[in-house]
Amino acid sequence: MKLLINGKNTEIKSNTETPLLWVLRDELGLTGAKYGCGIGVCGTCTVLIEGKAERSCISPVSELANKQVTTIEGLSDEGTHNVQKAWMEIGVTQCGYCQPGQILSAVDLLSKNPKPSDDDIDDAMSGNICRCGTYNKIRSAIHLAAEK
Ligand code: FES
Ligand code: FES
Repeated sequence: MKLLINGKNTEIKSNTETPLLWVLRDELGLTGAKYGCGIGVCGTCTVLIEGKAERSCISPVSELANKQVTTIEGLSDEGTHNVQKAWMEIGVTQCGYCQPGQILSAVDLLSKNPKPSDDDIDDAMSGNICRCGTYNKIRSAIHLAAEK
């Protein structure tokens, strides 16, 4: 089958019941989305499906025909999306493992709520776990992106 990934129609050879995360990483070499829990609870595998943040570890590709999938690699040319720029300005990243998922969840939040409050941010981002505890900086970066 074919998937629409980062704006390109892409032929997939994996079994259609394979979760998207493994297709992205193992078949297509798009390693921005990370493996954390594999059961939809940590958020590190987050991608955008039709602009909405989704867990790629529990999204079989059979459900993704004709849907736009955006990974961190396809969010912008050279990290120029407002959320990525805010992330760099604030210096959010520590080890980096969770950050592609965090950024894509923030993009989804801002598309629905362009001026989120702290509570809105905490609520929307609660499914993205960061072992390095970058939560305060994530909140600051989302406020900064909202001003851009
Ligand atoms: S690896 Fe997908 S939610 Fe944890
Ligand atoms: S930056 Fe290390 S897990 Fe989030």
